[in-house]
Amino acid sequence: MQTTYYFDHAATTPMHPAVAEEMLRIMQGTGGNPSSMHAYGRAAKQLIARARDTIAAAIGSKSAEIVFTSGGTEGDNMAIIGAIRAMARKGRRHIVTSAAEHHAVLHTCEWLVEEGFSVTVLPVDEYGRVSPKDVANAMTPETGLVTIMHANNEVGTLNQVLEIGWIVKDAGALFHVDAVQSFALTEYAMSESPIDLMTLSAHKINGPQGVGALYIANGTPFEPLAHGGSQERKRRAGTENVAGIAGFAKAVDICVNNRKEKQHLLEHLRKEWIDKLSRLEGVPIVVNGHPTDRLPHIANISFIGIDTETMLMNLDMEGIAAASGSACTSGALERSHVLRAMNLSEERLLSAVRFSFGLGNTMEELEGAAQKVATIAARIRTTV
Ligand SMILES: Cc1ncc(COP(=O)(O)O)c(C=O)c1O
Repeated sequence: MQTTYYFDHAATTPMHPAVAEEMLRIMQGTGGNPSSMHAYGRAAKQLIARARDTIAAAIGSKSAEIVFTSGGTEGDNMAIIGAIRAMARKGRRHIVTSAAEHHAVLHTCEWLVEEGFSVTVLPVDEYGRVSPKDVANAMTPETGLVTIMHANNEVGTLNQVLEIGWIVKDAGALFHVDAVQSFALTEYAMSESPIDLMTLSAHKINGPQGVGALYIANGTPFEPLAHGGSQERKRRAGTENVAGIAGFAKAVDICVNNRKEKQHLLEHLRKEWIDKLSRLEGVPIVVNGHPTDRLPHIANISFIGIDTETMLMNLDMEGIAAASGSACTSGALERSHVLRAMNLSEERLLSAVRFSFGLGNTMEELEGAAQKVATIAARIRTTV
């Protein structure tokens, strides 16, 4: 069955038609290697330079501080491994992170422990927030890096990254922020911020999959992961994904120009969705995540008494695409490490579903989708 309702924009977003058009235009051209000296190469290089300027302007950084990557996972890996290896040369081998980070951060930190680094994993509160005080208490003279996400991808809660960042600066460590989910909806002014490294991903903002960027502030100690070419000022070797990078920049352009309206629409959609589900009879729900310090497009909802997997399968059968939180990579549903870190009751943990809204969603869709949820809930209750 074709999906009628796509409510999984935190997993990935549909490409904006103007992005697809721009990429197609580039892919249908001759497409030189940006490192080549000839005219084709220079044209490709110029496309990358323009894209770099666009992304830098969008976050208030210098163009030279943007490194193109293959997306959020690579950006997180590069930032954490690249920064801590450089800081280790100064005797700083300790990392601080939180229990609610994306696996691209948590698994990288776990791997670094095997490599001889030490890691402190901070707890989060019932909304998924890291306490700046906890960060301050975790800092030691050996701390080289603190990595905390701006917005949580499962519940949408925002961390106080600026407050945390100044604490980290005072302790002489580097600060990395995973801004993959918040980027489209937040104004950043990197040149005035305490953030040294920040991860971005194109496919969460209606750009192409497999492209992203890592902001690395000028002067940040950093060791590259990839070797074998001088691309990206030797910070990431390899021939660039020219069409993808240009598509990313186009998506950023569209985002920046429509940020306020988008925010407003998403807030409306989320509120209306929660209101509609709250009014359904016999479907008790609890909303997870912070009520106000949050992204507008993610609604993490526990359908008390209905298992997440059962709900997701039924939603899928009715043409509604939602998620359990982080995208499922193993084929089997893993219980959310984020909700567990938030210390939610088992009944909330085992029944949570993430709905996330974005381009193409309308208020009109919500009524039909809510009716389907009511039908599903009634069906499940009569069969258990
Ligand atoms: C917070 C966060 N970080 C990192 C990633 C990984 O990004 P990508 O899919 O571009 O590798 C995601 C994707 O879900 C995310 O939500």
